Amino acid sequence: METLKRTKIVNVLKSDDFGSKVCVKGWVRTKRGSKNVAFIALNDGSTINNIQIVADLEQINESILSRIHTGASLSVTGTLIASQGSGQKVEIAASAIEVLGEANPDEYPLQPKKHSLEFLREKAHLRFRTSTFSAVFRIRHAMAFAIHQFFNGKGFYYMHSPIITGSDAEGAGEMFQVTTLDLDKLPRNEEGKVDYSKDFFGKLTNLTVSGQLEGELAALALGEVYTFGPTFRAENSNTSRHLAEFWMIEPEMAFYDITDNMDLAEEMLKYLVQYALDNCHDDLEFLQSRLLEEEKQKPQNERSDLPLIEKLEFVTKNDFVRLSYTEAIEVLKNSKANQKGQFQYPVSWGIDLQSEHERFLVEKHYKKPVILTDYPKEIKAFYMKQNEDGKTVRAMDVLFPGIGEIIGGSQREESYEKLKARIDEMGIPEKDMWWFLETRKFGTVPHSGYGLGFERLMLFVTGMGNIRDVIPFARTPKNAEY
Ligand code: 4AD
Ligand code: MG
Repeated sequence: METLKRTKIVNVLKSDDFGSKVCVKGWVRTKRGSKNVAFIALNDGSTINNIQIVADLEQINESILSRIHTGASLSVTGTLIASQGSGQKVEIAASAIEVLGEANPDEYPLQPKKHSLEFLREKAHLRFRTSTFSAVFRIRHAMAFAIHQFFNGKGFYYMHSPIITGSDAEGAGEMFQVTTLDLDKLPRNEEGKVDYSKDFFGKLTNLTVSGQLEGELAALALGEVYTFGPTFRAENSNTSRHLAEFWMIEPEMAFYDITDNMDLAEEMLKYLVQYALDNCHDDLEFLQSRLLEEEKQKPQNERSDLPLIEKLEFVTKNDFVRLSYTEAIEVLKNSKANQKGQFQYPVSWGIDLQSEHERFLVEKHYKKPVILTDYPKEIKAFYMKQNEDGKTVRAMDVLFPGIGEIIGGSQREESYEKLKARIDEMGIPEKDMWWFLETRKFGTVPHSGYGLGFERLMLFVTGMGNIRDVIPFARTPKNAEY
């Protein structure tokens, strides 16, 4: 039998070499047909679009056709022909079909109909095979690639920060401990406390919540660096925007002040969204039409005002609004929403802004992405540069429509004395921070950085509503299947 090299479906669909022989391989999305001919929609993950296989009983044996159902994997050889029906311009008239793997229709969970996202979350091992999730994960790849391309183009170095660490970068105490001690037989010291000198690393260690502190060490020599890796938070928040394991991009730049930091964050977000528009068009179109369907089910006042692609274009074309936390509190206080008591959490200077406040500023008041700066020092991490007022720090959070906080960052405290005082004030043990402090002792410089939550970016770009649906295998409280 002839052996023909496999062509990816994305390339076959672009071809107009009618009459040529091709071989495609993939998974059956649907099969329909009449007595004499079957139409099979085949997808191989290279594109959202399926290729139609026309299997004529004169060419393909009935015994083969009867084994083909949704979910089965096939190798198909045939002739490229112009498509009769609507949709694609080409299809394949099959001359040979090999069933690589059957999928019993009585058992295969994905039927050729619409499944809810909740249902598919329980079937995360198979949901890649749906149009929605294949689109999401192709876009996820494109965004990761674009991040490297953006920073590489600017002369930043990709820095690998450790996953296991002894420090708590954010000081929030939301860490997963890493240990090889036998939890049933813990070694104890004289005081009866666990003796971590007997543990693998000879000390208490945890999974990192952020690569920032190590990023700072590198930036204070290499100039401009970024990390891009998994981070872990044991916060018990079961929301549509929190994961226990998420990916974060953390650029860190020597000689940048907070304005340079904001400029970089805005330029990066616009670049990434533009990259998606330029390179993920078919997938975005699909997700947009999916969203429009979903919107129709919602009450009028909950519908989003812009279709997905327009929403993305809007971000690339408009300047972000920049204002201080103090100004934002005034806007919130004076808002009709506040006066009508529509906020669940009351507004006053000093509060940690809730997602409802952030979204009000972005979606209702300014109707644009917003960068807030100069937050009260009490609600921010120890490393942020202290302002002259003694009350605020040079923090910056970028707030996005539908998401709230997408980026958190700051100018860093570069003064040894001020940083040391803050570390002491917050009761952070110096034995965990001596190396960080030394960068301020030897050749300190003004510097800044921020962290972009990769899955929050993915929520925005894909329009998906739940963060569990933009990471292949979500880790959330009480959930670590697969
Ligand atoms: O604001 P965060 O906590 O900042 C930091 O970790 C700093 N060290 C960053 C830096 O300055 N280098 O987190 C940064 C971003 C948030 O804005 C959010 O997008 C995302 O990380 N994020 C989460 N995403 C998903 N699930 C969670 N539990 C998240 N926590 C933070
Ligand atoms: Mg934050």
